[in-house]
Amino acid sequence: MERILATALGQDVSQLAAQEKQLLLSRLLARFAHEVRNPLSSLDIHVQLLEEDLARAAPQIRQKTASRLEIIHGELHRLENIVKHFLSLAGPSALDLRPVQPATVIGHVCELLRPEAAARGIDIRMKWPDALPQVSADAAQLTQALLNLLINAIQAVGRDGRVEVNAASDRRPDTLSIEVRDTGPGIPADKQSAIFEPFFTTKEEGSGLGLWIVQQIISAHGGAVEAANAPGGGALFVLHLPLRGKAAPDG
Ligand SMILES: Nc1ncnc2c1ncn2[C@@H]1O[C@H](COP(=O)(O)OP(=O)(O)OP(=O)(O)O)[C@@H](O)[C@H]1O
Ligand SMILES: [Mg+2]
Repeated sequence: MERILATALGQDVSQLAAQEKQLLLSRLLARFAHEVRNPLSSLDIHVQLLEEDLARAAPQIRQKTASRLEIIHGELHRLENIVKHFLSLAGPSALDLRPVQPATVIGHVCELLRPEAAARGIDIRMKWPDALPQVSADAAQLTQALLNLLINAIQAVGRDGRVEVNAASDRRPDTLSIEVRDTGPGIPADKQSAIFEPFFTTKEEGSGLGLWIVQQIISAHGGAVEAANAPGGGALFVLHLPLRGKAAPDG
């Protein structure tokens, strides 16, 4: 992260505290997303104009270009979504804190991913006690954090296995704990300290931002994230959220 920041900002950041580096990186990502957005919308407009021009062209030309334009449209749309995602997460994210029923958020995330998991022979299970207390949280951001953990879990399992999401309020005082464990290979001991670093990935197509975003979201809530390997094998991630909510809002 240090090298990326130093290159992008043209300054030595080695003396800064970890928290300051994280803040700088968030700002950098937000700025990047903002600046990429303008040429993207201009591209979008010009593709539309091109389509209008082509509507007047000979049928063979129209036919040949239609599928190519469709691909361009699709890819532009994908880029716009990535940028939107970055803007919403990388920026200094103001939390919209409201009373949230953890079971609702967990249930929603599991249902979103169940079809994809089922197609790979992966069973998603959820468990919590009847009287699970509400937390003061930003439901959209909490959903994002859980999604990132579950997607990682599904990717780690690959095929045929299990992902379990358990919630409890008796693990730590005044804390709601949400556990995500999987039957994948677990986190190699020499990678444990690196996985929350921005841009750390062992995946060919990974951005390495998933867990970093999880940590940003949970610490903005005044909580903490733990990563370990489960005693029976597989990775175990735990989100700890304060039940009394955050003491002071985050700028
Ligand atoms: N459930 C898990 N089991 C084993 N290793 C994991 C698990 N979750 C994360 N990791 C490791 O941590 C790394 C960082 O995860 P992170 O979610 O930040 O990025 P990514 O998944 O590689 O990329 P992206 O989230 O952008 O798709 C992963 O590349 C993987 O090596
Ligand atoms: Mg990930």
